[in-house]
Amino acid sequence: RFLVPNVLYEPPSRFKLGIPNDYPTGMVVKNDEQRLFIIHTTEGFQALSAICTHLRCVVNWDARRSVYLCPCHGSIFNTKGEVTGGPAPKPLEWYRITLSEEGYLVIDKRDIVDHGYILKV
Ligand code: FES
Repeated sequence: RFLVPNVLYEPPSRFKLGIPNDYPTGMVVKNDEQRLFIIHTTEGFQALSAICTHLRCVVNWDARRSVYLCPCHGSIFNTKGEVTGGPAPKPLEWYRITLSEEGYLVIDKRDIVDHGYILKV
């Protein structure tokens, strides 16, 4: 068994996701690869996990209703990521989002922040 290292290969938790101009103001943009949403408001940028806190399905943004919906068992999250319906036990997580010296948006999924955290640019 020592010949097979007990290593878990996971994608890096800190990564760049484009430049601010890639995200139109007033939009919620889903990144399927990283399983998160970038939210650009007139106040700045926020990064919200797209992983449902029930059994980790990926939630979708419903722009018409302004809610995040889990397709697996019907959990509903409001724009703050709070649970408003379904079996999810906890809110969606918010990640710290920063701007690199080169002008890229940088997200660290290990760095969980409050909903009120906003990157102003
Ligand atoms: Fe989202 Fe069950 S995994 S409601």
